[in-house]
Amino acid sequence: MTGIEGKVVAITGASSGIGRAVATLLAERGAHVVLGARGQERLEAITRDIRDAGGSATCRVTDVTRREDLVGLVETARSEFGRLDVLVSNAGVMPVSPLDDLRVDDWDLMVDVHVKGLLHGIAAALPVFRAQGGGHFVTTASTAGLKIVPTMAVYAGTKFAVRAICEGLRQEAGPDLRVTLVTPGLTATEHTLGMGDDEARARFGATVAELALPADAVAAAMAYAIEQPATVDVNEVVIRPTSQG
Ligand SMILES: NC(=O)c1ccc[n+]([C@@H]2O[C@H](COP(=O)([O-])OP(=O)(O)OC[C@H]3O[C@@H](n4cnc5c(N)ncnc54)[C@H](OP(=O)(O)O)[C@@H]3O)[C@@H](O)[C@H]2O)c1
Repeated sequence: MTGIEGKVVAITGASSGIGRAVATLLAERGAHVVLGARGQERLEAITRDIRDAGGSATCRVTDVTRREDLVGLVETARSEFGRLDVLVSNAGVMPVSPLDDLRVDDWDLMVDVHVKGLLHGIAAALPVFRAQGGGHFVTTASTAGLKIVPTMAVYAGTKFAVRAICEGLRQEAGPDLRVTLVTPGLTATEHTLGMGDDEARARFGATVAELALPADAVAAAMAYAIEQPATVDVNEVVIRPTSQG
């Protein structure tokens, strides 16, 4: 299957930022989108917006730290639209802080959402993709998974792990599955609001306002990977604001 029209795409972290932008863009281009996140009200509002604009969308409350929720998200795609063509593993949190602060609950959260959340998605979708004879994993990493800076050790560590898991998945995928890692730099979303530390939040807030990418730019990179012919596997896209060092 080439292109975007008619594809069934499930997206985690679809209630905000990059996830919302990609859900909206893919629906505009004729995909059936299945939106997952924890917050039901926002999910339902975005699903309504997409439908009001003529798109095809449904949603399911999904906490990626719960394996059964990913099974449910994939099942929703299959029961509503008959199959799953693409899983966009995008849910993320960013409570960054210096290691000395010992915000160990935040460390656990980043590991649970980014690493276990990705694995839960793979566990839910891989057997479905194998049975269908095709499917596409699209995962949101971060340039923090390429360059480590102070306060971001744990966040960066989880994104390094995401890169490693996706590369392993790509190597094992065989000729029928595609695996794409999209690695954004600083992007204007709500992501920085969840930062653990006031100083980091203020610093990032100012930088975001000055130079961040729009979430639509990252969504367009995902759409580019998805629209390629089944024989073309876009493995990695790194997309930064031009002024990001
Ligand atoms: N913004 C940036 O500068 C930037 C840069 C590089 C990479 N990224 C990555 O981009 C991805 C999307 O982030 P964003 O920037 O779009 O941030 P965002 O606007 O804060 O969106 C994060 C999304 O993840 C969802 N989420 C959080 N915890 C979840 C959980 N346990 N289960 C399911 N969904 C969960 C949130 O919804 P609920 O809270 O309702 O669950 C929300 O929909 C993340 O993986 C992030 O690491 C962001």
